[in-house]
Amino acid sequence: MRMMGWTFLKGVFLVGLVSTSFASDEQEASDGAPTYHMRTGARAHGPLQQQHDMILSDLEAILRECGLKEGMTVWDVGCGTGTLTRLLAEKVGPTGHVYALDFSAAQLDVARVAVQEDGHTNVTFVQHDLTQSFAIKEDQKGDFLVSRFVLMHLEDPKAALSRMRDYVKKGGACLLMEPDNSRNSLARPCEEAQSFRRALLEVGEKAGLDYSLGARLGRLCEGVWQVKSVHEKWYQNDAAGTQKLWRARLEEMEEKLLTSRMATQEQIDGWHHMIDNLSSKEEGWYSSALLYYVHGVKE
Ligand SMILES: C[S@@+](CC[C@H](N)C(=O)[O-])C[C@H]1O[C@@H](n2cnc3c(N)ncnc32)[C@H](O)[C@@H]1O
Repeated sequence: MRMMGWTFLKGVFLVGLVSTSFASDEQEASDGAPTYHMRTGARAHGPLQQQHDMILSDLEAILRECGLKEGMTVWDVGCGTGTLTRLLAEKVGPTGHVYALDFSAAQLDVARVAVQEDGHTNVTFVQHDLTQSFAIKEDQKGDFLVSRFVLMHLEDPKAALSRMRDYVKKGGACLLMEPDNSRNSLARPCEEAQSFRRALLEVGEKAGLDYSLGARLGRLCEGVWQVKSVHEKWYQNDAAGTQKLWRARLEEMEEKLLTSRMATQEQIDGWHHMIDNLSSKEEGWYSSALLYYVHGVKE
């Protein structure tokens, strides 16, 4: 296994390495995503797209390094609203194919429309729960598989990694991406921002999210995927970028925080105030977050 610490920092990110907007029980029941605790569909799309855009240039470089090529068949597992699916569809081109899998009908609906608007005709959407086995046909098997911000939501990520192995041909590759939010930091911490970050982590953990999965991802692949490299990559978010993401997060999660009694209305008002004032922070204020990219091969 090769571990690489990338020496440059760029882009923006933060607690937003995972979307922390929570679904209502009604949404989960009607959506085909009973074990997913975040919002799905149009309301989920903005933050996912923002995260995708922030890591895009690194992602393109890593995909190239991992051998993604035109003409390949690729699986996007836990495709969400399709941000990565669309990139993959473009990279493999009309001679290639993308299978985009998710258990949420609402996520798939958003992804389907976006793919159509892009004019891609090389994508097949698959509604399936990753915790169940999938009878994949031989001609559907991929040369490549990607999965981003998905394993951290699963109770048994190792079992999912084994199932994903079936989705690719012998010699096929995977690129897995998961965060380690336990190491997120602020350049100039203030108590209000710290308590907001803690609340985001706490409410997510309570819902069963594994926020530090990224750091264990390489080890988790052992015996399933032959790990070729692990990229450890920090992202920074300046005050304006942080404000945009945090505002979305707080609006999305305040009800959950209140109903689960993890925050008082007074605290929430204080966080809104802190976020409103983020844009007045002096230069040099930033939040940072860590993302792991694991490249594996099916031997
Ligand atoms: C945070 S989103 C990430 C979406 C996309 N990979 C991206 O990076 O933009 C996680 C996705 O995993 C999907 N997901 C979670 N658990 C799943 C399961 N058991 N089976 C299939 N999809 C699942 C969710 O529906 C959601 O769309």
